[in-house]
Amino acid sequence: MCALGLTAGPGWMSVTPVNSGSFVESLRIAAPYIHAHRGATFVVLVGGEAVRSERLAPILHDVALLHGLGVRVVLVHGTRPQIEKRLEAKKIPARFVGDTRVTDRATLACVHEAVGAARARIEAALSMGTSNTPMANARIRVLGGNFITARPIGVRDGVDFLWSGEVRRVDTAGIERGLDAGAIVLISPLGASPTGESFNLASHDVAADVAIALGAKKLVGLIEGRGITDARRRLVTQLTPNEADALVAGPPRQGADVRKHVMAAARAVRGGVPRAHLVDRRRDGALLEELFTREGIGTLVTKEAYEDVRPARMEDLGPLATLLHPLEEQGILVRRSRERLEMELDRFVVIDRDGLVIGCAALEPFPESGMGELYCVAIHERYREAGRGEALLERLEERARGLGLSRMFVLTTRSAHFFQERGFVPASVRQLPPARRASYDRSRRSRVLTKTLT
Ligand SMILES: CC(C)(COP(=O)(O)OP(=O)(O)OC[C@H]1O[C@@H](n2cnc3c(N)ncnc32)[C@H](O)[C@@H]1OP(=O)(O)O)[C@@H](O)C(=O)NCCC(=O)NCCS
Repeated sequence: MCALGLTAGPGWMSVTPVNSGSFVESLRIAAPYIHAHRGATFVVLVGGEAVRSERLAPILHDVALLHGLGVRVVLVHGTRPQIEKRLEAKKIPARFVGDTRVTDRATLACVHEAVGAARARIEAALSMGTSNTPMANARIRVLGGNFITARPIGVRDGVDFLWSGEVRRVDTAGIERGLDAGAIVLISPLGASPTGESFNLASHDVAADVAIALGAKKLVGLIEGRGITDARRRLVTQLTPNEADALVAGPPRQGADVRKHVMAAARAVRGGVPRAHLVDRRRDGALLEELFTREGIGTLVTKEAYEDVRPARMEDLGPLATLLHPLEEQGILVRRSRERLEMELDRFVVIDRDGLVIGCAALEPFPESGMGELYCVAIHERYREAGRGEALLERLEERARGLGLSRMFVLTTRSAHFFQERGFVPASVRQLPPARRASYDRSRRSRVLTKTLT
């Protein structure tokens, strides 16, 4: 059977068949995230580059889907390239001190025009409703207003920044009312002051300030790049605010846009926003992949994650199956049905990282032989090489001792050295408890290793 899928062609118009198996699987993988995100407030920052690109519509259609799934969405947009274009057309020189623009009266007029044009583009994309697009039946209300009170940056190091400003106050009650009414709230990088003037603001700062003021669950920045990269150009998948600071202070590896996003993300997290995500705006569906899959695809800025090794519980069954499945497919672990996993659940310990199961191991006692079998030792690929495998072994050794067992054994095809380096020694099948010897599958040619518990 086939489901009809929409491919991200221009305007999302092309329809291609999607394999129903992968569709159902994907939706099930997304299910826990859909439940978790419903009713939460996310602030999404779409930079000026994205606003002017032809890919704005697919990005906003993903934002609309978030809204459709019950997320309270506040959208903040940028305007830098739009302002640049107007300055060029009017032959007004752009003036920056560091990353901050000096906004004189003529530039402020360009800012007003740029904001107006950007809002019109965004509102139009969120108003689409053509059948055969992800926006069919969407009927989204976009709400804007004077939610940001600004103050001038003023004079710094002898430079008057004129109509460049910073956020003074966020009208959270006004924004919440809009969200309660089911609207997407759209905020521009422009704020009014009590003196009746308007000020040009940095969109990254607006997004961070709004996320902090609202107590948002997430700040998501769609950035000009695939995420934060390290010195070897590998994607950094997770950062603490301090690591983010060090990265910005270090050699300039990221573009200005990414740097500003990282700083805003770190500030938002320090201000109480649990997670700030940076995702590549050029990658189709990046927002959805980041928010509805365990791995995500971009960089996550978050406080030190809370990790705990604990006994497995019933609700871990699904996540455990997901963790073990790829290793079973590769033949590294023996395939276990869900029913068997459920029956053996009380033998498992898991590593719970902020609610995600990222590792597991199990111990089957053979009391008559004074031995225990260690099995299903697995750490999610992304979290390996940080001592977690060893922590699981220690926990199960403790459990084995508590059960009065004097020896542990493990059967492994690929990880013999991992266990040998942790006190296990090669042994023969004959040394296994009789019940286990009988079920030993010779075709797997697993190596037997044992460890005496002291
Ligand atoms: C084996 C496994 C659990 C280790 O988890 P981990 O959290 O990365 O392990 P630790 O961080 O505690 O230890 C890392 C060390 O073990 C080594 N190591 C990891 N896997 C290894 C393997 N298969 N063979 C030999 N050494 C291995 C690493 O090189 C590293 O060594 P170093 O500290 O000298 O650099 C993990 O790689 C895994 O899930 N593998 C797939 C499943 C599997 O093979 N399970 C064992 C069979 S039951």
